[in-house]
Amino acid sequence: MTNLMEKKIGVLLSGRGSNFEALADSVAAGRIPDAEISIVISNREDAPGLLRATERRIPARMIPSKGVEREAYDRLVVAALNEARVDLVCLAGFMRLLSPYFVAAFRGRILNIHPSLLPAFPGLEAQRQALDYGVKFSGCTVHFVNENLDAGPIVAQAIVPVKPGDTEETLAARILCEEHRIYTEAVRLVLSGKFRIEGRRVLPTAEEHSEERLAGRAKRG
Ligand code: GAR
Repeated sequence: MTNLMEKKIGVLLSGRGSNFEALADSVAAGRIPDAEISIVISNREDAPGLLRATERRIPARMIPSKGVEREAYDRLVVAALNEARVDLVCLAGFMRLLSPYFVAAFRGRILNIHPSLLPAFPGLEAQRQALDYGVKFSGCTVHFVNENLDAGPIVAQAIVPVKPGDTEETLAARILCEEHRIYTEAVRLVLSGKFRIEGRRVLPTAEEHSEERLAGRAKRG
């Protein structure tokens, strides 16, 4: 029987899908309560994340983007998300810009994870950009998606050091661990509705803030 209280998450991905798997693990473990992933959509047939979804018995669809105009493509994806009654869309390594049509269809209900401390290093190869720039710290960001690239209000961020011997791969791996952690935190907060947005600031409510502190204290023992 379907639980009417359960919030439905739609995940869009283009590749490996480790962020999708982290979210799926968190839903299964109750770290994201009262939720289910009702659909995973990939624009690429060869995305390993699609197979991972199928292995987990989560409905998975491939909607190929090659040769399809941006808004026409987004209309197909939005239709599939609506069919799956999705409340929240999570971009998890979905390497496409969303059209204004898509953003309007799910306004305030789309999250993205990006492997840098935005607003530094938006766009492609964020870890490479961070290394080339010579920053000593980088990290990751979960943000709401608006019409501009990697630019919506920030829900969560985490910092990692850039070490002298780092390559793009070692830095990406260090950042990825934090991605998996903060994506869960951000989705949990957004689905709980215990926040407000003031200007660009996403502010947890006082209630959420104290629950967080209690949880933090419990974790630390
Ligand atoms: C992640 O590092 C994610 O932050 C990045 O792609 C990777 C996907 O990994 N996303 C972007 O760069 C978006 N601009 P995954 O498929 O294992 O989750």
